[in-house]
Amino acid sequence: MSEQKKVTRIGVLSSGGDAPGMNAAIRAVVRTGLYHGLEMFGIMRGYSGMIEDDIVEMESRSVANIIQRGGTVLKTARSKEFFQPEGRKKAYANLKKRGINGLVIVGGDGSFRGALKFSQEFDIPCIGLPGTIDKDIAGTDFTIGFDTAVNTAVEAIDKIRDTADAHDRLFIIEVMGRDAGYIALHSGIATGAEHILIPERKTDIEYVISSLQEKEKRKKLVNMIVVAEGDDFGGAEEVNKIIKERIPAADTRICILGHIQRGGSPTCLDRLVASRMGYHAVESLMKGRYNVMVGVMNNKMCYTPLEKAVKAKQTISDEWMRIVKILSS
Ligand code: F6P
Repeated sequence: MSEQKKVTRIGVLSSGGDAPGMNAAIRAVVRTGLYHGLEMFGIMRGYSGMIEDDIVEMESRSVANIIQRGGTVLKTARSKEFFQPEGRKKAYANLKKRGINGLVIVGGDGSFRGALKFSQEFDIPCIGLPGTIDKDIAGTDFTIGFDTAVNTAVEAIDKIRDTADAHDRLFIIEVMGRDAGYIALHSGIATGAEHILIPERKTDIEYVISSLQEKEKRKKLVNMIVVAEGDDFGGAEEVNKIIKERIPAADTRICILGHIQRGGSPTCLDRLVASRMGYHAVESLMKGRYNVMVGVMNNKMCYTPLEKAVKAKQTISDEWMRIVKILSS
């Protein structure tokens, strides 16, 4: 943490993949800032808007009627230019011109990496809010958007199971998670999936196949495999290919859930988490605690230095894997 600076004008932006609840976080940041008499600015399209000077002043009504909406009213982007010194220089000039002396960034670890570099170079106090459906950021039990995404996946998988059951089929469902298996793990357990394949664990495909062969022998033909898109063995297509080769009698289908997991109205939990984090982001900036990510752990707010938040991922305990194995037998 740097020494305390008086923050009077705060810019808020969403960056990286959108996540349901980002709007609730933006609303909380803007309204808490206004409550304290600060001037609040919305930066459009993440760091791209900062570089291109696409910045708008926000009033209380600018964030009316958005808490229930998915996506982000500030739009979002993954800016390559911001990772170049020249891009960050332009961004800083635009903030300086408006007197913006504090930033709240709602995004994932890539967005925090940008914030960290920026705050080191230009000494702008930054606060990160974990906004990602992947839940792959250390220092928080919740990320904004995860609960909604995982509930969307659960709803979809339940529906697919009806068809699997009606036709005695084996379904392979691919969920999002390029580097993280939380959506697969949680939605898989919640829907009673027979196998869950995640990037955090090396996939033992031989075990999956022998278990399916054994189930086939005892006429258990309805099986659900939930695979994270970033699994080391591959996604739904690859898993399906090998199953068809090794168990030709299996009636298999695949379903890739894709971006439906990113959109939609946030759940109550995501709205609450986002509101709480947004409120604490501003309080924290005002108290001089910055260059941290605001998280919630064991129902307490916690503040992880951005350096740590970008380095560590959440880990998946062996206990979870044991639960999957025991409950799916
Ligand atoms: O990080 C969130 C996420 O949805 C990942 O799970 C996924 O791999 C990625 O974003 C997809 O990004 P895009 O929308 O740019 O294709």
